[in-house]
Amino acid sequence: MSHDEKLQSKEETTDLALTDQDMMTREGLDRRNVWEPSVYYPLGKESFHFVGHEVNIRESTDSYGALIWPGAIALCQFLENNQQQMNLTDKAVLELGAGTGLLSIMASLLGAWVTATDLPDILSNLSFNLRRNTKGRSRYIPQVAALSWGQELERDFPFPSYRYDYVLAADVVYHHDFLEELLNTMLHFCRPGSGTTLLWANKIRFQSDLRFAERFKSSFNTTLLLEVPQENVWIYKATAKE
Ligand SMILES: C[S@@+](CC[C@H](N)C(=O)[O-])C[C@H]1O[C@@H](n2cnc3c(N)ncnc32)[C@H](O)[C@@H]1O
Repeated sequence: MSHDEKLQSKEETTDLALTDQDMMTREGLDRRNVWEPSVYYPLGKESFHFVGHEVNIRESTDSYGALIWPGAIALCQFLENNQQQMNLTDKAVLELGAGTGLLSIMASLLGAWVTATDLPDILSNLSFNLRRNTKGRSRYIPQVAALSWGQELERDFPFPSYRYDYVLAADVVYHHDFLEELLNTMLHFCRPGSGTTLLWANKIRFQSDLRFAERFKSSFNTTLLLEVPQENVWIYKATAKE
């Protein structure tokens, strides 16, 4: 089943216009705080082959964060094909909006010390996928942490104690109300003097994605690393404007 088919099956039960916040608010009425997938899509897992390992990801149609998005796959492939240019061995890597964890797993398998972050609801499935795909295979045990964009960053991730060589973000720009907070979060981690490189991969779907891309380009020094025309996915590298 393709990503779009999975998304469609999710949207049969979920209003397309709902943001994650809407979903959390709605679901918070009748669900526990800790989310566990309840509706697995038919096969229940998606398999990939990366850097000599089979990677199995548990997905669900419960939440956008429980599906694998095209940006994550494109950035995984980019990292696998450009290991010299983007050498992640022994690097501190933070992922924003990690979802199922596919990209963080890839970074772990490439030797990075990874912290995968997302909204609290998503962390259980994220931890499950990280554990099952990196145990005994990675140099460092990947960490998982709650990070809601724009919230308590100075308290929970103060600089320079929380400095990362790379910040990864895949398909974090889509129809939601937190684009300003997302950009501020990117600026928090990728700041002058940090030496941090931000890699952002996104499928371009809406005008709002293009507007965000313009703001992104004016906020950082950016390079378009790769365009995947058939998927409409762009991968940008960004560093702070000193
Ligand atoms: C479209 S999914 C992409 C997931 C994953 N990066 C991928 O490409 O497969 C967007 C992710 O951003 C997370 N997200 C959305 N709003 C967020 C917020 N305000 N703070 C932190 N994460 C958020 C969602 O939970 C979800 O995991």
